[in-house]
Formats: sequence, C-alpha cells, structure tokens
Amino acid sequence: MAQQSKSKAARKTSAWFQKHSNDPHVKRAQKEGKRSRAAFKLTEILDEHDLKVSHHTVVVDLGCAPGSWSVELAKRVGPAGKVIGIDLLPLDGINGVTLIQEDFDTAEGQALLVEALEGRRVDLVVSDMAPEMSGDKLVDQMRMINLNEMTLYFARQYLKPGGNILMKTFMGEGYDSFRKELGLSFKPIKNIKPAASRKSSAEFFLLGRNFTPE
Ligand SMILES: C[S@@+](CC[C@H](N)C(=O)[O-])C[C@H]1O[C@@H](n2cnc3c(N)ncnc32)[C@H](O)[C@@H]1O
Repeated sequence: MAQQSKSKAARKTSAWFQKHSNDPHVKRAQKEGKRSRAAFKLTEILDEHDLKVSHHTVVVDLGCAPGSWSVELAKRVGPAGKVIGIDLLPLDGINGVTLIQEDFDTAEGQALLVEALEGRRVDLVVSDMAPEMSGDKLVDQMRMINLNEMTLYFARQYLKPGGNILMKTFMGEGYDSFRKELGLSFKPIKNIKPAASRKSSAEFFLLGRNFTPE
C-alpha cells in the first residue's frame, strides 16, 4: 500500500515537472533571468491596469520569496522609493529592497514591517501570499481569506489615502464577504486573472484602488 501511494505521488511530481518545464512563462523567466515566472503576473497587472509605481513610491511586498516581484518593484521605485518584502522563507538579497524573514500573520512580523517603514506611509501593498496547501479545500480557502483579511487590516493602518492594494485570493467560502469588506475602503475593485497565471490554478488577484480611510 505504502509502495503504491509512493509511486502515485512520484507520478504526480513528475507530471508537475513536465508541465512546469514546458510552461512558456517558465521558459521566458529562465531566458530573462527572472527569479520566477510570477514576475510576469505583476508586470502585466501593473502595466495593463496602469498602476503607477514610479520614483518615490513606497511598496510593501507580502509573501515576497523568491523575490521576482520585489526585483521588478525595486527597478520602478528607484533610490527615492522604498520596497519592503516579507516572507516566511529566506531569500537572496535584492538591491534596494529591505527583506524581512518572518510570518506576516504575527505581531512580530508586522512590527518589523512598521519599523522598516521608518515613518513613511505606503502607496501600494501587494500580496502574492498563499497558505501552504493542506489538501482540504475548505481549510485552505479559510487560510487564504485569513491572509487576505490580515493584508487589508495592515493596509488600513499604513496606506496613504488614495493608495492601492493588490492581493492574491481564491474564489470560495468567505470570498464574497471579504470582497464587500474590501469595498468599504477601496473603490473601484477589480478581479484580475493575468495571462501568466496558470488556467488550472484557482488563484486570481483583487486590485483595490483609491484607499479611503474611515
Ligand atoms: C507564490 S510565492 C510568492 C512569489 C513572489 N511574489 C515572487 O514573485 O517571487 C508565495 C509566498 O508566500 C509566502 N507566505 C505564505 N504565507 C506567509 C505568511 N504568513 N507570512 C509571510 N510569507 C508567507 C510563502 O512562503 C511563499 O514564499
């Protein structure tokens, strides 16, 4: 039985590798020296939705490892801007980016982010965080919505009025009420599935503009 389930798992892994190595975005990421194919999701959203990230912009990148979003953001904000990234995992340093290895969903993680801001308010909060998948759809969905709620809670405290938020989420339990909650602070809100996001993946992104404090 153990032998049988092992070979099933091995078959699944090999199918994933096959799909991954044939993925055009993976090939392009390797060719262009990106840390991951996720870079194209962010650049596509920024460019196609005219989300201004320019010099002086302050951005917080939640769930930043291996760092492809932070690399793209740092290029755009230049030395007068600021990019702060946080992740549970360690990652190689990025010029112009303050990296924090901590759990965003803890008081310690958020205190380190606030310290790194050095009193500046944030123009854009981005989150590509996803929970570690347990295999239980409902549990994973609730964990995703929890990360979304924590992201919104953080943004409400540290975004500039007029600032923007971009976060990954999944459709399912808790999504509708979370979107309503997001709508109390941001208008308009858009659901985005970038071309670089696999069709087979349940992920999509919520873009909220023009933060209005309560
Ligand atoms: C899809 S990856 C992000 C890829 C990244 N945007 C890039 O371009 O390289 C999702 C990341 O979210 C991180 N993550 C998930 N939950 C987190 C949490 N509570 N605190 C910090 N990071 C978290 C994971 O460790 C993982 O590295």
